[in-house]
Amino acid sequence: MIMADTVKDLLIEYIERELSESRKQHTYGVVSEAKALAKHYGADCKKAELAALSHDIVRDKPQEVLDDYVKKFNLDTSYIGNSNLSHAKIAAEIIKRDFGIVDTDIINAVSYHTTGRPGMSLLEKIIFIADAIEPGRTYPGVDELRNIAYENLNKACIKALENNINYVNSHGSYVDRDSILAKYDLMAEERRLNEQ
Ligand SMILES: [Fe+2]
Ligand SMILES: [Fe+2]
Repeated sequence: MIMADTVKDLLIEYIERELSESRKQHTYGVVSEAKALAKHYGADCKKAELAALSHDIVRDKPQEVLDDYVKKFNLDTSYIGNSNLSHAKIAAEIIKRDFGIVDTDIINAVSYHTTGRPGMSLLEKIIFIADAIEPGRTYPGVDELRNIAYENLNKACIKALENNINYVNSHGSYVDRDSILAKYDLMAEERRLNEQ
């Protein structure tokens, strides 16, 4: 078993070596946002930090390299040619294989950081939203999402999922089933909470 701080150091060393300057800034932005959200919502800050450091570790690899990983790790062939989705699934495999991460919550938070999924844990929601609102993000509506994120995490996830679904639709691409299921699952969770 590798100690958490060693894993953190190994991840930072990898990020510093392998990622572009802008991806490094984004990653460290997600780390600070994820830690702030974890503190705010009473989640494990160490796990949030490791998941945030891990989430985009293969994002800068060329498409051919990612496609090779999809085959090597026996991931669904629909990920071939789709780096937007595959980088999350591959990162989840790499952190298990190369960094000794065994915590399933961290692994799932990395694996579902682009799509979300039904039944997201608190950590998964935190990483999903931290990725969308980290300080370097500047798209229209990001400030509104930042405010919602610290008031109601489910509502923020629903809004971010809607943004993603609309963006993918407007580009004529295929919307991942997990995103649609995640949105309806979170809406149902919110309705249940409001009824109590
Ligand atoms: Fe990503
Ligand atoms: Fe990211």
